[in-house]
Amino acid sequence: TAQAASALQKNETRLRHEEYADIDWNNLGFGLRPTDYMYKSKCTSHNTFQQGQLIDYGNVELSPAAGVLNYGQGLFEGMKAVRGEDGRVLLFRPDQNAIRMQIGAERMCMQSPSVEQFVDAVKQTAIANKRWIPPPGKGSLYIRPLLIGTGPILGLSPAHEYTFLVYASPVGNYFKEGTAPLNLYVHNEFHRTTRGGVGGVKSITNYAPVLKPLLRAKEQGFSDVVYLDSVHKKYIEEVSSCNIFLVKGDVISTPSTIGTILEGITRKSIIDIAQDLGYKVVERLVAIDELMEADEVFTTGTAVTVATVGSITYNGQRVEYKTGDGLLSQRLYKRLVGIQVGKIEDKHNWVVEI
Ligand code: COI
Repeated sequence: TAQAASALQKNETRLRHEEYADIDWNNLGFGLRPTDYMYKSKCTSHNTFQQGQLIDYGNVELSPAAGVLNYGQGLFEGMKAVRGEDGRVLLFRPDQNAIRMQIGAERMCMQSPSVEQFVDAVKQTAIANKRWIPPPGKGSLYIRPLLIGTGPILGLSPAHEYTFLVYASPVGNYFKEGTAPLNLYVHNEFHRTTRGGVGGVKSITNYAPVLKPLLRAKEQGFSDVVYLDSVHKKYIEEVSSCNIFLVKGDVISTPSTIGTILEGITRKSIIDIAQDLGYKVVERLVAIDELMEADEVFTTGTAVTVATVGSITYNGQRVEYKTGDGLLSQRLYKRLVGIQVGKIEDKHNWVVEI
């Protein structure tokens, strides 16, 4: 009954207080810790999204025929709210996530929220769950906006109803290695995506297909997988959860976003930061052989931030890169995080205080 459901929800919230009390802010890692509230808004075809609202975090009810369940009509975003040392709550370029969701929605034939509604929903979710934002320097509140086709549909066509949800979880380092250098494995059997596909947008359908190569690589002790292009099997594309860069001399290169590579917001911020520091950054086709001969390799992503790569294994050959002090990746990491937490001047106006 409705009464029982409400009692259950109250009980869940009470339990969450116990979970809150048990959090070890020094060892967050990257896993789901349910928080108090989520944001929800709906929209039927040819209409705009209705005014959404915050509701208790909990399960959502779906038709078994929902477009997202049957045909994968879904997009997600990832962003972080942090607590500055002065106590301010800060978001990083939330408008960029909103725009990326709109571009993805166009590709997936979905209705999408306006940029203003998206940003407002993210702010509301962060503020409602403020107690879950880790103390300064301990991590962030990872915010996960989702856009899913919830209308029932049997023949292959776009759903007639969409739901926009935003939930959040406190997180620390993405990789279990913490901030230690990553050991990456290059796959030439599995590919992440292909030309003309949806690799360039944050479709939920880009992620389950990489689980198999990712788990295999992890079983062998690697941190993650580098995917090659599916046509030539020669050019690097990205890692399962992040974009990739290499440094050779004083030039930084990264694969250009030609529809198969996610348009990372950290990726483009790092390009700007590196240019601000006087480095030349080139977006181009990057052959796997060049990666193996690089001076330095690193990855970027919202969840990952900037991660130094310690080794790459390809076709039975393992190359190791220099690690430790003085790395460009560390300099870029410190600058990015410094801007994000309000310690370094934000000359691009990326940070939004809420
Ligand atoms: C992010 O970096 O926010 C992502 O969406 C990657 C995800 C696999 C955790």
